[in-house]
Amino acid sequence: MAQFETVFVTGGAGYIGSHTIVELLNANYEVIVIDNFVNSVDEPNGESAALRRVEKITGKTVTFYKCDLLDRTALFDIFEKHKIDCVIHFAAIKAVGESMEYPLLYYKNNLIGMLNLLEVMERHECYQLVFSSSCTIYGEPKQLPITEDHEIGGNITNVYGKTKYFIEEMLADISHSNKKWNIICLRYFNPVGAHPSGEIGEDPTKAFSNIMPYIAQVAIGHKPILTIFGGDYNTSDGTGVRDYIHVMDLATGHVAALRKLCREHQHLKAYNLGTGRGVTVLELVKTFEKVTGAAVPFRIMEKREGDITAMFANADLADQELEWKAKHTLEEMCIDFWRWQTKNPYGYRPNKSSKITNG
Ligand code: WQD
Repeated sequence: MAQFETVFVTGGAGYIGSHTIVELLNANYEVIVIDNFVNSVDEPNGESAALRRVEKITGKTVTFYKCDLLDRTALFDIFEKHKIDCVIHFAAIKAVGESMEYPLLYYKNNLIGMLNLLEVMERHECYQLVFSSSCTIYGEPKQLPITEDHEIGGNITNVYGKTKYFIEEMLADISHSNKKWNIICLRYFNPVGAHPSGEIGEDPTKAFSNIMPYIAQVAIGHKPILTIFGGDYNTSDGTGVRDYIHVMDLATGHVAALRKLCREHQHLKAYNLGTGRGVTVLELVKTFEKVTGAAVPFRIMEKREGDITAMFANADLADQELEWKAKHTLEEMCIDFWRWQTKNPYGYRPNKSSKITNG
Protein backbone atom coordinates (compact mmCIF):
# COMPACT_ATOMS: atom_id res chain seq x y z
CA MET A 1 0.00 0.00 0.00
CA ALA A 2 1.40 3.42 -1.01
CA GLN A 3 2.05 5.92 1.75
CA PHE A 4 0.96 9.51 1.08
CA GLU A 5 2.72 12.02 3.27
CA THR A 6 2.71 15.28 1.36
CA VAL A 7 -0.53 16.69 -0.06
CA PHE A 8 -0.57 19.68 -2.43
CA VAL A 9 -3.78 21.71 -2.09
CA THR A 10 -4.74 24.24 -4.77
CA GLY A 11 -7.15 26.98 -3.71
CA GLY A 12 -6.50 26.08 -0.08
CA ALA A 13 -7.19 29.60 1.22
CA GLY A 14 -10.82 29.33 0.16
CA TYR A 15 -13.89 28.09 1.99
CA ILE A 16 -13.80 24.33 1.38
CA GLY A 17 -10.02 24.24 0.99
CA SER A 18 -9.29 25.83 4.37
CA HIS A 19 -11.72 23.50 6.18
CA THR A 20 -10.26 20.47 4.41
CA ILE A 21 -6.73 21.48 5.43
CA VAL A 22 -7.82 21.40 9.09
CA GLU A 23 -8.72 17.72 8.64
CA LEU A 24 -5.56 16.99 6.59
CA LEU A 25 -3.39 18.42 9.39
CA ASN A 26 -5.38 16.52 11.99
CA ALA A 27 -4.67 13.36 9.94
CA ASN A 28 -0.93 14.22 10.09
CA TYR A 29 -0.41 14.96 6.42
CA GLU A 30 2.22 17.53 5.42
CA VAL A 31 0.30 20.21 3.51
CA ILE A 32 1.57 22.54 0.79
CA VAL A 33 -0.94 25.15 -0.35
CA ILE A 34 -1.26 27.54 -3.26
CA ASP A 35 -3.83 30.25 -3.75
CA ASN A 36 -3.99 33.35 -5.94
CA PHE A 37 -6.44 35.16 -3.62
CA VAL A 38 -8.94 35.66 -6.44
CA ASN A 39 -11.70 34.57 -4.05
CA SER A 40 -10.03 34.53 -0.63
CA VAL A 41 -8.66 37.15 1.75
CA ASP A 42 -4.93 37.95 1.92
CA GLU A 43 -3.21 39.96 4.61
CA PRO A 44 -0.88 42.94 4.10
CA ASN A 45 2.11 40.59 4.47
CA GLY A 46 0.80 38.46 1.61
CA GLU A 47 -0.21 35.62 3.87
CA SER A 48 -3.66 33.99 3.88
CA ALA A 49 -6.00 35.13 6.66
CA ALA A 50 -7.83 31.78 6.58
CA LEU A 51 -4.66 29.65 6.71
CA ARG A 52 -3.34 31.63 9.66
CA ARG A 53 -6.56 30.70 11.49
CA VAL A 54 -6.23 27.06 10.34
CA GLU A 55 -2.78 26.97 11.97
CA LYS A 56 -4.29 28.46 15.14
CA ILE A 57 -7.04 25.80 15.23
CA THR A 58 -4.69 22.84 14.65
CA GLY A 59 -1.46 24.06 16.23
CA LYS A 60 0.27 22.91 13.05
CA THR A 61 1.80 24.77 10.11
CA VAL A 62 1.34 24.63 6.36
CA THR A 63 3.70 25.69 3.55
CA PHE A 64 1.99 28.42 1.53
CA TYR A 65 2.81 29.94 -1.85
CA LYS A 66 0.84 32.69 -3.53
CA CYS A 67 0.61 31.15 -6.98
CA ASP A 68 -1.82 31.20 -9.90
CA LEU A 69 -2.36 27.94 -11.80
CA LEU A 70 -2.10 30.01 -14.99
CA ASP A 71 1.57 30.59 -14.07
CA ARG A 72 2.85 27.20 -15.19
CA THR A 73 6.49 28.03 -14.46
CA ALA A 74 5.80 28.96 -10.83
CA LEU A 75 3.73 25.81 -10.45
CA PHE A 76 6.51 23.69 -11.97
CA ASP A 77 9.06 25.19 -9.57
CA ILE A 78 6.96 24.22 -6.55
CA PHE A 79 6.82 20.62 -7.74
CA GLU A 80 10.61 20.74 -8.25
CA LYS A 81 11.04 21.92 -4.68
CA HIS A 82 8.77 19.41 -2.92
CA LYS A 83 8.14 15.68 -3.23
CA ILE A 84 4.36 15.76 -3.65
CA ASP A 85 2.46 12.47 -3.24
CA CYS A 86 -1.08 13.66 -3.93
CA VAL A 87 -3.00 16.72 -5.10
CA ILE A 88 -6.38 18.03 -3.97
CA HIS A 89 -7.59 20.54 -6.55
CA PHE A 90 -10.05 23.18 -5.31
CA ALA A 91 -8.80 26.25 -7.20
CA ALA A 92 -11.58 27.52 -9.47
CA ILE A 93 -13.90 30.46 -9.74
CA LYS A 94 -17.48 29.44 -9.05
CA ALA A 95 -20.00 32.27 -9.10
CA VAL A 96 -22.74 30.91 -11.35
CA GLY A 97 -24.11 34.29 -12.40
CA GLU A 98 -20.63 35.71 -13.05
CA SER A 99 -19.80 32.66 -15.17
CA MET A 100 -22.66 33.55 -17.52
CA GLU A 101 -21.42 37.14 -17.78
CA TYR A 102 -17.74 36.26 -18.33
CA PRO A 103 -17.57 32.78 -19.93
CA LEU A 104 -14.03 33.27 -21.33
CA LEU A 105 -12.73 34.17 -17.86
CA TYR A 106 -14.24 30.97 -16.47
CA TYR A 107 -13.00 28.71 -19.28
CA LYS A 108 -9.51 30.18 -19.09
CA ASN A 109 -9.19 30.11 -15.32
CA ASN A 110 -10.84 26.77 -14.62
CA LEU A 111 -9.80 24.77 -17.70
CA ILE A 112 -6.31 26.14 -18.49
CA GLY A 113 -5.52 26.07 -14.77
CA MET A 114 -6.50 22.40 -14.65
CA LEU A 115 -4.47 21.60 -17.79
CA ASN A 116 -1.35 23.26 -16.34
CA LEU A 117 -1.76 21.32 -13.12
CA LEU A 118 -2.16 17.98 -14.90
CA GLU A 119 0.89 18.61 -17.13
CA VAL A 120 3.09 19.57 -14.17
CA MET A 121 1.85 16.56 -12.16
CA GLU A 122 2.63 14.20 -15.05
CA ARG A 123 6.10 15.74 -15.48
CA HIS A 124 6.76 14.91 -11.83
CA GLU A 125 5.26 11.42 -11.90
CA CYS A 126 2.54 12.54 -9.47
CA TYR A 127 -0.66 10.73 -10.50
CA GLN A 128 -2.79 10.89 -7.35
CA LEU A 129 -5.56 13.47 -7.67
CA VAL A 130 -8.74 14.37 -5.76
CA PHE A 131 -10.82 16.76 -7.88
CA SER A 132 -13.41 19.17 -6.45
CA SER A 133 -16.37 18.54 -8.74
CA SER A 134 -20.02 19.50 -8.38
CA CYS A 135 -23.54 18.09 -8.54
CA THR A 136 -24.17 20.84 -11.08
CA ILE A 137 -22.76 18.55 -13.78
CA TYR A 138 -25.88 16.36 -13.50
CA GLY A 139 -28.04 19.19 -14.93
CA GLU A 140 -31.78 18.77 -14.29
CA PRO A 141 -32.00 15.33 -12.58
CA LYS A 142 -34.05 12.61 -14.29
CA GLN A 143 -34.54 10.82 -11.00
CA LEU A 144 -33.94 11.59 -7.33
CA PRO A 145 -32.04 10.88 -5.18
CA ILE A 146 -29.33 11.13 -7.81
CA THR A 147 -26.67 8.42 -8.20
CA GLU A 148 -23.19 8.71 -9.72
CA ASP A 149 -24.25 6.79 -12.85
CA HIS A 150 -26.79 9.52 -13.76
CA GLU A 151 -25.97 11.16 -17.09
CA ILE A 152 -23.62 14.13 -16.77
CA GLY A 153 -23.26 17.12 -19.08
CA GLY A 154 -26.85 17.22 -20.30
CA ASN A 155 -28.61 20.60 -20.01
CA ILE A 156 -26.09 22.16 -17.61
CA THR A 157 -27.51 25.65 -17.22
CA ASN A 158 -24.34 27.63 -16.49
CA VAL A 159 -20.73 28.03 -17.64
CA TYR A 160 -19.32 27.29 -14.18
CA GLY A 161 -21.04 23.90 -14.18
CA LYS A 162 -19.81 23.23 -17.73
CA THR A 163 -16.19 23.81 -16.65
CA LYS A 164 -16.61 21.14 -13.97
CA TYR A 165 -18.13 18.77 -16.53
CA PHE A 166 -15.41 19.41 -19.14
CA ILE A 167 -12.74 18.74 -16.51
CA GLU A 168 -14.33 15.40 -15.57
CA GLU A 169 -14.26 14.52 -19.27
CA MET A 170 -10.55 15.49 -19.46
CA LEU A 171 -9.82 13.30 -16.45
CA ALA A 172 -11.66 10.39 -18.08
CA ASP A 173 -9.53 10.75 -21.21
CA ILE A 174 -6.15 11.00 -19.46
CA SER A 175 -6.90 8.12 -17.08
CA HIS A 176 -7.88 6.03 -20.09
CA SER A 177 -4.67 6.83 -21.98
CA ASN A 178 -2.30 6.55 -19.02
CA LYS A 179 -3.16 3.89 -16.47
CA LYS A 180 -0.87 5.45 -13.89
CA TRP A 181 -3.50 8.11 -13.12
CA ASN A 182 -5.27 7.49 -9.84
CA ILE A 183 -8.15 9.96 -9.61
CA ILE A 184 -11.27 10.53 -7.49
CA CYS A 185 -13.85 13.20 -8.41
CA LEU A 186 -15.92 14.40 -5.45
CA ARG A 187 -19.29 15.80 -6.56
CA TYR A 188 -20.34 18.25 -3.84
CA PHE A 189 -23.93 19.16 -3.24
CA ASN A 190 -24.53 22.42 -1.36
CA PRO A 191 -21.71 23.18 1.07
CA VAL A 192 -22.76 25.25 4.12
CA GLY A 193 -21.68 25.71 7.74
CA ALA A 194 -18.28 26.49 9.25
CA HIS A 195 -15.68 25.01 11.58
CA PRO A 196 -17.29 24.76 15.07
CA SER A 197 -14.63 27.08 16.51
CA GLY A 198 -16.05 29.97 14.47
CA GLU A 199 -12.47 30.81 13.47
CA ILE A 200 -12.90 29.98 9.77
CA GLY A 201 -15.91 30.12 7.46
CA GLU A 202 -17.24 31.22 4.10
CA ASP A 203 -15.85 34.62 3.21
CA PRO A 204 -15.85 35.11 -0.58
CA THR A 205 -14.15 38.18 -1.99
CA LYS A 206 -15.91 37.73 -5.30
CA ALA A 207 -19.61 38.34 -5.70
CA PHE A 208 -21.51 35.44 -4.15
CA SER A 209 -25.02 34.28 -4.94
CA ASN A 210 -25.42 31.22 -2.75
CA ILE A 211 -28.02 31.24 -0.06
CA MET A 212 -26.39 30.61 3.32
CA PRO A 213 -24.09 33.68 3.36
CA TYR A 214 -27.06 35.74 2.25
CA ILE A 215 -29.28 34.40 5.06
CA ALA A 216 -26.52 35.19 7.58
CA GLN A 217 -26.02 38.70 6.16
CA VAL A 218 -29.75 39.40 6.61
CA ALA A 219 -29.76 37.88 10.10
CA ILE A 220 -26.80 40.02 11.21
CA GLY A 221 -28.40 43.15 9.75
CA HIS A 222 -26.01 43.80 6.86
CA LYS A 223 -28.78 43.12 4.32
CA PRO A 224 -32.43 44.16 4.80
CA ILE A 225 -34.23 41.13 3.41
CA LEU A 226 -33.70 37.71 1.82
CA THR A 227 -35.16 37.19 -1.64
CA ILE A 228 -36.41 33.63 -2.10
CA PHE A 229 -36.29 32.78 -5.79
CA GLY A 230 -39.48 30.99 -6.70
CA GLY A 231 -42.43 30.01 -4.52
CA ASP A 232 -44.34 27.79 -6.93
CA TYR A 233 -41.96 24.94 -7.64
CA ASN A 234 -43.46 21.45 -7.54
CA THR A 235 -42.10 20.85 -4.01
CA SER A 236 -43.62 20.47 -0.52
CA ASP A 237 -43.77 24.24 0.08
CA GLY A 238 -43.14 25.61 -3.43
CA THR A 239 -39.49 26.59 -2.84
CA GLY A 240 -36.39 24.94 -4.29
CA VAL A 241 -34.96 21.74 -2.82
CA ARG A 242 -31.23 21.17 -2.25
CA ASP A 243 -28.95 18.76 -0.36
CA TYR A 244 -27.11 21.00 2.12
CA ILE A 245 -23.96 19.42 3.52
CA HIS A 246 -21.75 20.67 6.36
CA VAL A 247 -18.37 21.85 5.14
CA MET A 248 -16.66 19.75 7.85
CA ASP A 249 -18.32 16.66 6.39
CA LEU A 250 -16.95 17.66 2.99
CA ALA A 251 -13.53 18.02 4.62
CA THR A 252 -13.55 14.50 6.09
CA GLY A 253 -14.81 13.26 2.71
CA HIS A 254 -11.56 14.48 1.13
CA VAL A 255 -9.44 12.68 3.70
CA ALA A 256 -11.48 9.53 3.08
CA ALA A 257 -10.86 9.90 -0.68
CA LEU A 258 -7.09 10.26 -0.10
CA ARG A 259 -7.11 7.10 1.98
CA LYS A 260 -9.00 5.27 -0.78
CA LEU A 261 -6.44 6.34 -3.41
CA CYS A 262 -3.73 5.15 -1.08
CA ARG A 263 -5.42 1.75 -0.51
CA GLU A 264 -6.46 0.93 -4.07
CA HIS A 265 -5.58 2.27 -7.50
CA GLN A 266 -8.76 3.87 -8.89
CA HIS A 267 -7.87 5.09 -12.43
CA LEU A 268 -11.00 7.31 -12.24
CA LYS A 269 -13.95 7.16 -9.82
CA ALA A 270 -16.64 9.70 -8.89
CA TYR A 271 -18.52 9.98 -5.58
CA ASN A 272 -21.44 12.13 -4.44
CA LEU A 273 -20.72 14.05 -1.25
CA GLY A 274 -24.19 14.82 0.05
CA THR A 275 -26.44 13.91 2.98
CA GLY A 276 -29.17 12.23 0.91
CA ARG A 277 -31.76 14.63 2.32
CA GLY A 278 -33.58 17.29 0.27
CA VAL A 279 -34.35 20.52 2.13
CA THR A 280 -36.50 23.40 0.83
CA VAL A 281 -35.38 27.02 1.04
CA LEU A 282 -38.18 27.78 3.50
CA GLU A 283 -37.14 24.82 5.70
CA LEU A 284 -33.58 26.14 5.68
CA VAL A 285 -34.67 29.65 6.64
CA LYS A 286 -36.98 28.41 9.42
CA THR A 287 -34.28 26.10 10.80
CA PHE A 288 -31.77 28.97 10.78
CA GLU A 289 -34.19 31.21 12.70
CA LYS A 290 -35.02 28.44 15.19
CA VAL A 291 -31.44 27.55 16.12
CA THR A 292 -30.01 31.08 16.10
CA GLY A 293 -32.96 33.07 17.45
CA ALA A 294 -32.22 35.59 14.69
CA ALA A 295 -34.98 36.85 12.38
CA VAL A 296 -34.58 36.41 8.62
CA PRO A 297 -37.22 38.55 6.90
CA PHE A 298 -37.84 37.37 3.34
CA ARG A 299 -39.93 37.99 0.25
CA ILE A 300 -40.74 35.38 -2.39
CA MET A 301 -40.01 36.58 -5.92
CA GLU A 302 -39.83 34.98 -9.38
CA LYS A 303 -37.53 32.04 -10.06
CA ARG A 304 -33.82 32.63 -10.75
CA GLU A 305 -32.74 31.85 -14.32
CA GLY A 306 -30.95 28.51 -14.53
CA ASP A 307 -32.20 27.17 -11.20
CA ILE A 308 -33.49 23.60 -11.06
CA THR A 309 -36.44 22.48 -8.93
CA ALA A 310 -34.74 19.86 -6.78
CA MET A 311 -31.37 18.16 -6.32
CA PHE A 312 -30.28 15.76 -3.61
CA ALA A 313 -27.83 12.87 -3.44
CA ASN A 314 -27.87 9.16 -3.14
CA ALA A 315 -24.73 9.03 -0.97
CA ASP A 316 -24.54 5.23 -0.60
CA LEU A 317 -21.48 4.73 -2.84
CA ALA A 318 -19.25 6.99 -0.71
CA ASP A 319 -20.53 5.18 2.39
CA GLN A 320 -19.70 1.77 0.91
CA GLU A 321 -16.40 2.55 -0.83
CA LEU A 322 -14.94 5.53 1.02
CA GLU A 323 -16.25 4.48 4.43
CA TRP A 324 -17.57 8.05 4.72
CA LYS A 325 -20.99 9.45 5.65
CA ALA A 326 -22.16 13.01 6.32
CA LYS A 327 -22.74 13.31 10.07
CA HIS A 328 -23.82 16.90 10.74
CA THR A 329 -27.46 17.97 10.99
CA LEU A 330 -29.07 20.96 9.29
CA GLU A 331 -29.27 22.59 12.73
CA GLU A 332 -25.50 22.23 13.17
CA MET A 333 -24.90 23.68 9.70
CA CYS A 334 -26.93 26.75 10.67
CA ILE A 335 -25.53 27.26 14.16
CA ASP A 336 -21.91 26.77 13.03
CA PHE A 337 -22.34 29.26 10.18
CA TRP A 338 -23.96 31.71 12.58
CA ARG A 339 -21.11 31.38 15.12
CA TRP A 340 -18.62 32.20 12.32
CA GLN A 341 -20.75 35.14 11.15
CA THR A 342 -21.27 36.66 14.61
CA LYS A 343 -17.61 36.20 15.64
CA ASN A 344 -16.49 37.72 12.31
CA PRO A 345 -19.16 40.22 11.16
CA TYR A 346 -16.85 41.29 8.30
CA GLY A 347 -15.32 37.90 7.60
CA TYR A 348 -11.51 37.89 7.68
CA ARG A 349 -11.44 41.64 7.08
CA PRO A 350 -10.46 43.79 10.06
CA ASN A 351 -13.01 46.55 9.64
CA LYS A 352 -16.36 47.65 8.31
CA SER A 353 -14.95 49.27 5.19
CA SER A 354 -14.86 46.07 3.19
CA LYS A 355 -18.19 44.34 3.81
CA ILE A 356 -18.85 41.04 2.06
CA THR A 357 -20.45 41.79 -1.29
CA ASN A 358 -22.94 39.63 -3.08
CA GLY A 359 -23.86 39.00 -6.69
C1 WQD B 1 -29.75 27.19 -3.27
C2 WQD B 1 -31.25 27.43 -3.25
C3 WQD B 1 -31.99 29.00 -4.91
C4 WQD B 1 -29.95 32.47 -3.10
C5 WQD B 1 -24.63 26.33 -6.10
C6 WQD B 1 -23.70 26.14 -7.24
C7 WQD B 1 -23.33 24.68 -7.35
C8 WQD B 1 -22.75 24.19 -6.05
C9 WQD B 1 -23.76 24.43 -4.93
C10 WQD B 1 -20.32 24.17 -5.86
C11 WQD B 1 -31.87 27.51 -4.64
C12 WQD B 1 -32.23 29.54 -3.50
C13 WQD B 1 -30.41 31.19 -3.38
C14 WQD B 1 -30.86 33.46 -2.71
C15 WQD B 1 -32.66 31.88 -2.89
N1 WQD B 1 -21.52 24.82 -5.73
N2 WQD B 1 -31.74 30.91 -3.27
N3 WQD B 1 -32.19 33.13 -2.61
O1 WQD B 1 -27.62 27.25 -7.05
O2 WQD B 1 -28.13 25.18 -5.65
O3 WQD B 1 -25.82 25.64 -6.34
O4 WQD B 1 -24.03 25.85 -4.91
O5 WQD B 1 -20.10 23.09 -6.25
O6 WQD B 1 -22.38 24.54 -8.35
O7 WQD B 1 -24.37 26.51 -8.40
O8 WQD B 1 -26.92 27.10 -4.62
O9 WQD B 1 -27.17 28.58 -2.66
O10 WQD B 1 -27.35 29.61 -4.99
O11 WQD B 1 -29.18 28.17 -4.16
O12 WQD B 1 -33.87 31.60 -2.80
O13 WQD B 1 -30.51 34.65 -2.43
O14 WQD B 1 -31.51 28.70 -2.63
O15 WQD B 1 -33.07 29.32 -5.77
O16 WQD B 1 -33.17 26.94 -4.58
P1 WQD B 1 -27.23 26.30 -5.98
P2 WQD B 1 -27.60 28.45 -4.09
